[in-house]
Amino acid sequence: MNASSPSPAQNQAATATLYGGVTSRRVTVRDLATAKQRGEKWSMLTAYDALTAGVFDEAGIPVLLVGDSAGNCHLGYETTVPVTMDQMVMLSAAVVRGTKRAMIVADLPFGSYQESPAQAMRNAARLMKEAGVGAVKLEGGERSARSIELLVEAGVPVMAHIGLTPQSVHAFGGYPVQGRGDEAAHQLLRDAKAVQQSGAFSVVLEAVPAELAAQVTEQLTIPTVGIGGGPDTDAQVLVWTDMAGMTAGRVPKFVKQYADLRTVLGDAARAFAEDVRGGAFPAAEHSFR
Ligand code: KIV
Repeated sequence: MNASSPSPAQNQAATATLYGGVTSRRVTVRDLATAKQRGEKWSMLTAYDALTAGVFDEAGIPVLLVGDSAGNCHLGYETTVPVTMDQMVMLSAAVVRGTKRAMIVADLPFGSYQESPAQAMRNAARLMKEAGVGAVKLEGGERSARSIELLVEAGVPVMAHIGLTPQSVHAFGGYPVQGRGDEAAHQLLRDAKAVQQSGAFSVVLEAVPAELAAQVTEQLTIPTVGIGGGPDTDAQVLVWTDMAGMTAGRVPKFVKQYADLRTVLGDAARAFAEDVRGGAFPAAEHSFR
């Protein structure tokens, strides 16, 4: 029995559904591949700490992404660009510790893989060895193909990310929709095929027209994960702070807000402060005798 011929137990595990399926081990790339064959759609959320990751794991989110969106959603930077490897290792390790079942994917941050495939390998190994993640994500299609190939050969599962790649915010001059027009659409298709050919197990399609994302999804055998890619990708990812209403100010058009945590937390903090000011807290039941 070798890595390319699964045991009967592995086969059985891989055919269980992602939602309500296997709960006694972590979700694997094999589970995601068979979900695509079954046509089962799945969700991914970002997570940056053990506490929130644990909530999402208990809720049955099968894949959690320690995104470098930690830069602007967790660490107070304006973009993802300043995020370092040391920060990604620390945040990823916390997310791994806080979860039991979800596959944990960690972003390789800006500057940690673009130099060479060897640099990509060195930093992917840090995320796997020091943080314990099950896969890494990196941005770029054809331009990242050689690095993806080396990582996959070395046993690192790679999720690719094409379309709007936020680490290129300064080159894009913002966060414009990608893949509009014939030439851009053809390039997106070439990028998608290049990352699949290089061995990526999945690819994120960010901010691309829904019709194009559907076309890519149909032409690939690996699962596509949409964020601003319309309804026809195999999976959907959202940044958790956007999804739960923690983000201050405007969120992108593709976000659906499922809660208003910013208001809930703010109200709780204001009520606490008011109780302290007025002497209502602590009451007798919060005090020792
Ligand atoms: O860093 C991140 O959160 C991401 C998602 C937007 C896919 O890359």
